[in-house]
Amino acid sequence: MRKILVTSALPYANGSIHIGHLVEYIQTDIWVRFQKLRGHECYYVCADDAHGTPIMLRAQKEGITPEELIARYQTEHQTDFADFSIGFDNYYSTHSAENQHFSNLIYQGLKAGGHIERQTIRQFYDPEKEMFLPDRFIRGECPKCHALDQYGDSCEHCHTTYNPTDLINPVSAVSGVTPIEKESEHLFVNLSHFEAMLQEWIGSGALQPAVQHKLNEWFESGLQAWNISRDAPYFGFEMPDEPNKYFYVWLDAPIGYIASFKNLCDREHIDFESFLAKDSEAELYHFIGKDIQYFHCLFWPAMLTAGGFRNPTAVFVHGFLKVDGEKMSKSRGTFINARTYLNHLQPEYLRYYFAAKLGHGVDDVDLNLDDFLHRVNADLVGKFVNIASRCAKFITNRFDGQLASELVEPALYQEFIDAGNAIAEAYETRDYNKGVRHIMALADRANQYIEERKPWTIAKQAGQEAELQGVCSQGLNLFRILMGYLAPILPLLTSKVEDFLAAPITWQPEPLLAHTIKPFKPLMVRVEKKQIDAMIEASKESLATPTQPAASIDPIRELIDYDTFSKIDLRIARILKAEQVEGADKLLRLSLDVGEDKPRNVFAGIKDAYAPEQLTGRLTVMVANLAPRQMRFGISEGMVLAAGPGKQDIFILTPDDGAQPGMRVK
Ligand code: 2FM
Ligand code: ZN
Repeated sequence: MRKILVTSALPYANGSIHIGHLVEYIQTDIWVRFQKLRGHECYYVCADDAHGTPIMLRAQKEGITPEELIARYQTEHQTDFADFSIGFDNYYSTHSAENQHFSNLIYQGLKAGGHIERQTIRQFYDPEKEMFLPDRFIRGECPKCHALDQYGDSCEHCHTTYNPTDLINPVSAVSGVTPIEKESEHLFVNLSHFEAMLQEWIGSGALQPAVQHKLNEWFESGLQAWNISRDAPYFGFEMPDEPNKYFYVWLDAPIGYIASFKNLCDREHIDFESFLAKDSEAELYHFIGKDIQYFHCLFWPAMLTAGGFRNPTAVFVHGFLKVDGEKMSKSRGTFINARTYLNHLQPEYLRYYFAAKLGHGVDDVDLNLDDFLHRVNADLVGKFVNIASRCAKFITNRFDGQLASELVEPALYQEFIDAGNAIAEAYETRDYNKGVRHIMALADRANQYIEERKPWTIAKQAGQEAELQGVCSQGLNLFRILMGYLAPILPLLTSKVEDFLAAPITWQPEPLLAHTIKPFKPLMVRVEKKQIDAMIEASKESLATPTQPAASIDPIRELIDYDTFSKIDLRIARILKAEQVEGADKLLRLSLDVGEDKPRNVFAGIKDAYAPEQLTGRLTVMVANLAPRQMRFGISEGMVLAAGPGKQDIFILTPDDGAQPGMRVK
């Protein structure tokens, strides 16, 4: 029996789980269920990644404590995961006593080994909020392509990476003020000290070839010292003996794997050391996405080594999720939250589809919605469940649920059992797509057997009872073997089948003979196109874009008469406040003074073009008599006018200063 500890990346505690996340959790969960089904001692741990500036600021914005915020997300995440049957043995939080203990321990190990150095660095500082600003909280004009409102580390428009200080007209996204540069001393891990260890670890076959290649590139460009400290205010763990310094969230995040496992070990009396001590013979695997390789393949082994722990046996990297060949998009409705999916579709459809697509590489996975519908219906309902439904009714109606006392085709049964080794190999190597292809080929074979033996014809012939019972029992036994092969992917269906067959589902089982089963009930319903459409619709952001790209304006203009024009109430508006809209990728929320008692709330699709602080105080023109529109984020009470082709090239109309809020535009 192998001893195996498995982790998935820890989701941040300030956002909902979406189907992009689920690629990884489903991939890991299938692997873990497979190992458990094969009888190994395997534990799967995870946690919420609860620290860092974004979580601190988000809590401030909501007027709650970070602890309250992370508790709320922890509950939401755990519910979503449970509803997708992600079977963690422990789900914890990085904001825990165990994690603080191990973070200190690893830090002390780094310090004692002489791997910590001090450097004074200059960073942007928000003088109003009195805090240093992470790159993502600085916005400004791209120094290369001059796109406005870009992040402090890279331009989303031309993909150039740069230092925040290179931005033109930088502003703090926290307060809207211009940041100043300020010096502060920080603690760095000298990663180059670990180069020999890392090279040896990489040589042990712990990484996929593509990942190894990436790492070699990093080695070639030289390992940079890693800043593990952050200045107060910060939501995290204070560093020992370093007043006002906190561990950077990426230091304590992977340590959360260890902390979550320790918490499980203490609760269930598992020998922690035997999994994580330097000389451990257990296996340790981390499933991660390709965006966080650097942390897991360079920093993490260095931290483990410094803390006196063993290194990972392997890090398994997967690609990103695409939907219909494109990046998930809020406006297209393909940025689908786990809960939105569950409101419309069965979790096992997605588990199956991902399994059918996942291989061992780092390639992106494409959820093609037509293919999804077709595959689930054809494979699971049309092929697999069909085997049982074709055989079970005869066993129930004609034999009182009793299966035959021997197999009529033992060789065929054995053929199915023997195929298990190749399927196991596919699971072990994470080539689930290969495994699913094998299983579905066997399902075809089982259906072919039933078609050849035609139980529905035998049933009409007198005196053929034994043959009818034999053929149907054979079919159900083949079905049971296949359910065992599919069990890691489809745990809910597996439970239903265990109930229906009144027998356990295991890997490569002995045949069920002279055994009574329960009457067959439909095990899985077909996916309907309208369910997918409804899910996409529910995921769509309601976008009232004030400007349409010029190219989409019909050149053959429909003329309107003067009366129609005069119905449009155009008013001068002063933008009192502009702010980001949580969860919206195009919208800003504007509060507009139109000379009325109270300001109007208007959502405008100009986020790509303007940082909120660029708009505050400016005059613009709005359609004041547009019927209020309920949007996902609130009610929009009008529309501001702007020109331009779209994205960052949108320019809101700006009247001369003499205009006053409320003036009619004629
Ligand atoms: O990228 C992320 O979403 C991080 N929260 C992953 C952390 S994984 C581990 F290192 F904790
Ligand atoms: Zn740019």
